[in-house]
Amino acid sequence: MKEIEKKEIIDSLRSSKATLPVKLLYDNLGGKLFDAITETEEYTPTKDELAVFSENLEKIKAILPNSICLIDLGAGSCFKAEKVLPVLNPSCYLAVDLPSEFFMNSVQRLSSIFPEKNILSLEIDFTEGLTNDLIDTTISKAGTNLAKTIFFPGSTIGNFSPVAASKFLSSFDNDFLIIGIDLLKTSSELEKAYDDALGVTAAFNKNVLLNLNRQVGTNFDVTRWSHKAIFNSEKSRIEMHLVAKEEQIIESPYGEISFSAEKSIHTENSYKYTVESFSKLLSDVGYIDISKFVHPNNSYAVFVAKRNRQF
Ligand code: AVI
Repeated sequence: MKEIEKKEIIDSLRSSKATLPVKLLYDNLGGKLFDAITETEEYTPTKDELAVFSENLEKIKAILPNSICLIDLGAGSCFKAEKVLPVLNPSCYLAVDLPSEFFMNSVQRLSSIFPEKNILSLEIDFTEGLTNDLIDTTISKAGTNLAKTIFFPGSTIGNFSPVAASKFLSSFDNDFLIIGIDLLKTSSELEKAYDDALGVTAAFNKNVLLNLNRQVGTNFDVTRWSHKAIFNSEKSRIEMHLVAKEEQIIESPYGEISFSAEKSIHTENSYKYTVESFSKLLSDVGYIDISKFVHPNNSYAVFVAKRNRQF
């Protein structure tokens, strides 16, 4: 991590609205804890998304042109790609994720499962903006005139504010979009999903402090913090916080940081949409022909849309 980023983090922790960058949740252990969250009974998006895909992949395929390049943002384990590739049968598949050995091994594993497919990869932090040129150069190896189809499953867009989400979704020069969205539920359902009985989400949240200790050089003691998940109905988002159990002083290479008891550090937002509110977001940034595939419980939706190049 760059010195300037470390300094910004410390400044934010000292401010009245202490927040941490979401990506700090995903160190090696954080990634494994997130996978464990998806297996808890309370957290439904991953299971519901798989159900929506298994039920509707053929219909999704029918909407798309014959020759597509599927660009998988946050491909990670390439587990979802493994499910969709046989049906969507893209002319090329581009896995995009942060550089890691885990990601590279996943891409290699996928290539060995589908040796006949054109499987490419790009190790970048796509949340900081995707370079269309870089994508074009990478996929040009696979052929020309392929419809660029962004595949953004997992409701990851929910971790962006609606303004940032709109900016992000209009920043690429794509032809189609396939995106998964966790839908708005009751506060009680959402708060349980982000504060499961086993404490997996609590561990995922507290692990950010261990990552900070390693990356920034602080000395947080996780036992002195509690996990809190609260639904903010006004902003339609679930918020994760870490709350100080008692007054404490934390050391850092940039001096001490004092926390009073009950002081909270805001670690993540996960925005929830209705089918209507997300359709509006898409059409407001220039997507047309929006198809929605909704889970029978009304809990999750996959949207497939076309980019209006004239927009
Ligand atoms: C990755 N992202 C979509 C998850 C979410 O639901 O916002 C991260 C997560 N945080 C707590 N539980 C899951």
